[in-house]
Amino acid sequence: MSIDNHTEHVEFEDPGVPDHRPRKADVDDKADKRAERQTAFLFGLSIVGTLIAVVGYFAIDLGEDVESIQRFTMVLGLGIFLAMIGIGLGAIHWAKTLMRDHEMVEERHEMRSSDEAREGAIQDLKDGVVDSGLGGPKRRTLLKGSLITALAIAPLSVLVPQIGSMGGDWNVSKFRHTMWTAGTRLARDPDGTPIKASDVTIGSVFHVIPEGLNDLEHHLIEEKAKAVVLLIRLDPKDLNVQPGREDWSFDGIVAYSKICTHVGCPVALYEQQTHHLLCPCHQSTFDVANGAKVVFGPAKRPLPQLPIAVDDDGYIVAQRDFEEPVGPSFWERLQGDDSTAEEVDH
Ligand code: FES
Repeated sequence: MSIDNHTEHVEFEDPGVPDHRPRKADVDDKADKRAERQTAFLFGLSIVGTLIAVVGYFAIDLGEDVESIQRFTMVLGLGIFLAMIGIGLGAIHWAKTLMRDHEMVEERHEMRSSDEAREGAIQDLKDGVVDSGLGGPKRRTLLKGSLITALAIAPLSVLVPQIGSMGGDWNVSKFRHTMWTAGTRLARDPDGTPIKASDVTIGSVFHVIPEGLNDLEHHLIEEKAKAVVLLIRLDPKDLNVQPGREDWSFDGIVAYSKICTHVGCPVALYEQQTHHLLCPCHQSTFDVANGAKVVFGPAKRPLPQLPIAVDDDGYIVAQRDFEEPVGPSFWERLQGDDSTAEEVDH
């Protein structure tokens, strides 16, 4: 038996491209002008967006409450959005309505184009400059001016906030303390029910918030972001209690900040066998059995530990607040700066 490997080639007629239909702006001067004005409007929108971002950055008072931060980021975001979308839509509208509209056929050729093709490409570029109205006899000065202005100032919408924040005074004390205090019960996130030591079986993990946090005013919701904790129970014989922290855990139950010390993502993946906690953002790995020390990844310090105890009713409570700032090591480094250290202490 033989298998016929030959493939049959079916010939068909090249249908070619459909007839070219000129656009309105190609045949009507009024439509051409209208399209030009529309494009300039979009570039103008970009200019307005940049101004909103820059003026908003300086004009809006950034308070300590969530509402003012939301207002600030909303105005900044709106400005940057308009700055970028205006340029993008303007360029698309320009290309679709005003730039030369003729079909081209490009034959396949060798990797290196012939000298002729190269000269042709250069000529096409020059023609493109003429067609776009940036050069040649039909100079579109309105378009040119608005585009150049929009392009020139658009980076300001991003750069001004960046540069401004570099020299700003950070109120570090806000980040140094969380709402954990002596006797605050550890409660399940998100329903807020307190946790008994007997609820925590070996190998289990609880996502924890301070009891009562859910009843706080909306503007204090930022407290939750700082106070989130992971509660984990290990077999006590696997737990290497760190020097000076002999009474910070209870029968193998330990509590660590959930905020990664790299750049602040929530650490959430616990591997029971190795006792490793993994941060999904950049794979920093912390060893819960050894003081949550970093065993892999870009984080530079262990997760801060929350000292815990058990109250008379059997509920797990905090002994006090964390002894170091939670979150990225940035805050820790600031303590080395005298001026900032003063701010931290007050
Ligand atoms: S934020 Fe956790 S590893 Fe980067």
